[in-house]
Amino acid sequence: MPKDSDLSFDEFWMPFTENRRYKSQPRLLCQAKDMHYTAGDGHDVLDATSGLWCVNAGHSRVPIVAAIQRQAAELDFAPTFQLGHPLAFQLAHRLKSFFPGDINHSFFAGSGSEAVDSALKIAVAYQRAIGFPDRTRFVGRERGYHGVGFGGISVGGLPKNREGFPMLPGIDHLPHTHDLAKMAFSRNQPDWGAELADALEEIIALRGAETIAAVIVEPMSGSSGVLVPPKGYLERLREITRRHGILLIFDEVITGFGRLGAPTASALFGVQPDLITVAKGITNGAVPMGCVGVSDTVYSAVMSKAGPGIEFFHGYTYSGHPLAAAAALACLDVYEQEGLFTRAASLDSVWENAAHALRDAPFVRDIRNIGLVAGIELEPRPDHPGARAMEIFHRCFDTGLLIRVTGDTIALSPPLIISEEQIHQIFDQLAAVIRQVN
Ligand SMILES: Cc1ncc(COP(=O)(O)O)c(C=O)c1O
Repeated sequence: MPKDSDLSFDEFWMPFTENRRYKSQPRLLCQAKDMHYTAGDGHDVLDATSGLWCVNAGHSRVPIVAAIQRQAAELDFAPTFQLGHPLAFQLAHRLKSFFPGDINHSFFAGSGSEAVDSALKIAVAYQRAIGFPDRTRFVGRERGYHGVGFGGISVGGLPKNREGFPMLPGIDHLPHTHDLAKMAFSRNQPDWGAELADALEEIIALRGAETIAAVIVEPMSGSSGVLVPPKGYLERLREITRRHGILLIFDEVITGFGRLGAPTASALFGVQPDLITVAKGITNGAVPMGCVGVSDTVYSAVMSKAGPGIEFFHGYTYSGHPLAAAAALACLDVYEQEGLFTRAASLDSVWENAAHALRDAPFVRDIRNIGLVAGIELEPRPDHPGARAMEIFHRCFDTGLLIRVTGDTIALSPPLIISEEQIHQIFDQLAAVIRQVN
């Protein structure tokens, strides 16, 4: 492993990074095992973010590593256009029991962003197949994050990701569900806010249901700062979409694979979408992969109504990649054998109490939590929003704790193998660092 001083930093244009600042003081992650990274200077870093919301089973797990190694030696790549390889079919079969209800089909992609764009296209293809070619509009939500494809940023609602780029036409946004005056320091789902879903009725009245293909939301918004859905909100979205023949897409790229203490947020909340997008935890982050879970109704409509030839003109070179499929199958075994999907639920109250113990720390204006996720929102510095949280991020890293910050919200989402002692370590260390900044 080269040392920091042997590396040249300028050539890698880093994603979602203040490149100039990073490169003036680079911080590297060089190894990882279970709950910890090893930083470039050799110090251990407790991972309170599962890398980037993806390493749900902990780092470099032996069965997953072994499956990837075996697969690389046996079949490194196989196209899935007009051909196939066994693991992609096996994985789709296994995912049937992971996805809720009648979501029994998988369309594979290479990332969450690709899964989202695929889901939007599948929604339009379905509407066309059942005789509604004019249903091409989408409804997203303010503060939604659906990756960085043009489809994803258009239905997404994070202004910085949209600024300066052309958008897909025909998109409306629901209001976001975050209101500190009504829900600050809620534990689990806030009591207030179900009525915000009724804004969908207004959009439908304005545009006409006959023009709308799908509504897409994250059941819990992660990237925009941990926004937990108000009680009854997702149920209402489901009821309205169903009544108007509009598909409901849940983007579960973060919430899938146990993050909230159930296989999916859909299962946890008991709300059945038509399409689900997943990525990240599907391979424990070890090999890039995204997937759209598709309901029987949607799949069979597209298959049965298409003319001769290819039913759906869409796909990626890496759809169902053998290494990703091998990693995902091994990963599902680990999740199952270790009961990791329910582990978050069993740690819920320890996690929640430890998070809310920061309530009296300086600058804390909200704490929210669900499953093994917590958001700690800080007062921004008046002259420089985001700077306080960024300073906390750096100080935490340098003292051995990896957190994630988005604006002035600290988002925590550790691997599901975390111990109670490590939960306390995270919040004790974070509280100490918050007390050091101004
Ligand atoms: C809800 C959601 N959708 C989509 C994406 C995009 O995934 P990717 O970065 O793999 O393209 C993310 C990434 O964080 C996400 O949180």
